[in-house]
Amino acid sequence: MKEQINQIQTLEELQALHTATFGKNGTMTARLRDMKNLDNDARAALNKENAELRELFKTRQADIEYAVMMAKLQTQKLDVTLSPEPEHVGRLHPLTQALAEISGILESFGYNLWTGPEIEDDWHNFTALNTPAHHPARDMQDTFFLPNGNVMRTQTSAIQIRAMEKCGVPIKMFGIGATYRKEMDATHSPMFHQIEGLYVDKNVTMSDLIGDVRAFLQRFFEMDNVELRIRPSYFPFTEPSIEIDMKWHGDKWLEIMGAGMVHPDVLRNCGVDPDVYQGFAFGFGWDRLAMLKYNLSDIRKFYDGDIRWLQANGF
Ligand code: PHE
Repeated sequence: MKEQINQIQTLEELQALHTATFGKNGTMTARLRDMKNLDNDARAALNKENAELRELFKTRQADIEYAVMMAKLQTQKLDVTLSPEPEHVGRLHPLTQALAEISGILESFGYNLWTGPEIEDDWHNFTALNTPAHHPARDMQDTFFLPNGNVMRTQTSAIQIRAMEKCGVPIKMFGIGATYRKEMDATHSPMFHQIEGLYVDKNVTMSDLIGDVRAFLQRFFEMDNVELRIRPSYFPFTEPSIEIDMKWHGDKWLEIMGAGMVHPDVLRNCGVDPDVYQGFAFGFGWDRLAMLKYNLSDIRKFYDGDIRWLQANGF
């Protein structure tokens, strides 16, 4: 038996022999059960044999475990000279990055960040913005209508209505979010992003608007001075309305945003007295600013799910 134990090389075999010896039907168990029929000397001898065997099993188990561990250490040697696995360092999607920069600048000017629902009702997306049903300006934006009459928000201007309804005036806020229109080409995606600023108080003027827009563009594009061109335009919710162009790389004029003084009817629709308060609003495509800053020509590329946008060395 002792020989047998010492020749065993695996824990499984050792366990099997242990069970065959000391288990319920084990050989030693049976002999111990019959001990009452033995004389004193034989009993003492059996007890001794039993104790020795148990000890032997324990020692053998420890030996085998040690051998197994040593074998493992041999094969699992750690080579500290190996070069490490390549690290996958990520970065923010350019749109997210642009948003963080834009928000940071506007917040530093005192504008508070707002969001709103992407599925809007007619009131917030159109009617409160002085664009009642059948108003021709509704055609300016090809709208996705939902069966219940709601729309996929066509402009973040809807958020300024919600902000004024909720907080009243004076207010200095900007709304951000996805907007939807039925159009699709290199510079238009059916889903894009807008940012909209609103500042209403007792003495807000058009020059405050232009000053903030200029300071904002200088900060965002990291330019010492931006040359702006102010063109008259039309939006139902602003009067007068303007469009702001920016001189780009010294030769091209780029249309950057729509803006204007908030129309008195829009203020009235939000419970604000336009004889006491007035203000300005401006709105622009945040994707477009990101395209300009990062020098991209196709807006659709932002949304194609290309993982390289998120990899530190992606493009
Ligand atoms: N909502 C307008 C658009 O989507 C932009 C705009 C915002 C114009 C605020 C004036 C004031 O075209």
